[in-house]
Amino acid sequence: MRSYSLIAPAKINLYLEILGDRPDGYHELAMILQSIELADQIEVRAIGTDTILIHCDHPQVPSDSSNLAYRAVELMAKVFPDAFAKFGGVEITIKKHIPVAAGLAGGSTNAAAVLVAVDMMWQLGLTQPELQDLAAQLGSDVPFCLAGGTALATGRGEQLNSLSAFNSLYVVLAKDRNLMISTPWAYQAYRSEFGHTYVRDTQSLESRAHRVHSGPIVNAIRHKDGSQIGRLLHNDLEKVVLPTTPQVAQLREAFQSSGVLGTMMSGSGPTVFALCESEAHAQEVRQRVRGMIANPDVDFWVTRFSTRGIQIVSSVT
Ligand code: C5P
Repeated sequence: MRSYSLIAPAKINLYLEILGDRPDGYHELAMILQSIELADQIEVRAIGTDTILIHCDHPQVPSDSSNLAYRAVELMAKVFPDAFAKFGGVEITIKKHIPVAAGLAGGSTNAAAVLVAVDMMWQLGLTQPELQDLAAQLGSDVPFCLAGGTALATGRGEQLNSLSAFNSLYVVLAKDRNLMISTPWAYQAYRSEFGHTYVRDTQSLESRAHRVHSGPIVNAIRHKDGSQIGRLLHNDLEKVVLPTTPQVAQLREAFQSSGVLGTMMSGSGPTVFALCESEAHAQEVRQRVRGMIANPDVDFWVTRFSTRGIQIVSSVT
């Protein structure tokens, strides 16, 4: 039976600016997304029946259609019914290393890995743009997860412009394991509070996205200038999450006072990350911040920037 083993990396947001709202309920964004080495391992196996099975070693990960990886197979079956009839369903095993509901695109990267595996398993030979298009139907972050590296993402987050990727920066991540933030809530809260500041004509939206592309943080990324990148981190969603979630604000302050290059909440949170020049410094910061935070439920990870998206580790055909 065919089976594929894949690595599905997480992402952090180095930059997230909300430019406007959209008639479809989403928001126009200018984001800089960065892959990190913290990754899940995904195994996708042909099972010869028309079912989709999901197993995961993390109790909070669902095995039904509320799992984006499940929906990735459903989408492929809908778009390629003949291939589904010929090759049948799949069994997906997810070894979770990426924290769940954390603002790190864990679900999105699992779905991206499943798209890649099913494309190979069903011998579809899809091009990268075709895969990106399917990915965008699953979620705003899924196209980036396929490609990985460093990218400016606009539109809903699905339109990608890759930037010069590098892996010399280290990342400390911290997350309270009891804390969950709903992404739709965060965007809605932002819309209620700051909606009046949106620019609504398409041309201005484009020019604002262009301003980010030719702006200081992209320039700093081009020059691989860690201290400038650290100084220029930005996330509009912090404006609604920090005031309502003191645990996130506290982690942010603890990192800030620990001599890091920069610190920011990732996506809609609640994970907070800090950038460091070296692994030794990142480990030192982890220890220091752990000592400053009385809460024993905060987990820490040390990882680094990655230049890669979904990677196929092995295949048995
Ligand atoms: O695209 P995805 O399903 O990952 O988005 C999750 C939720 O985040 C959406 O339902 C929406 O509420 C919010 N969102 C948004 N604007 C975006 C991306 C996400 O409002 N560009």
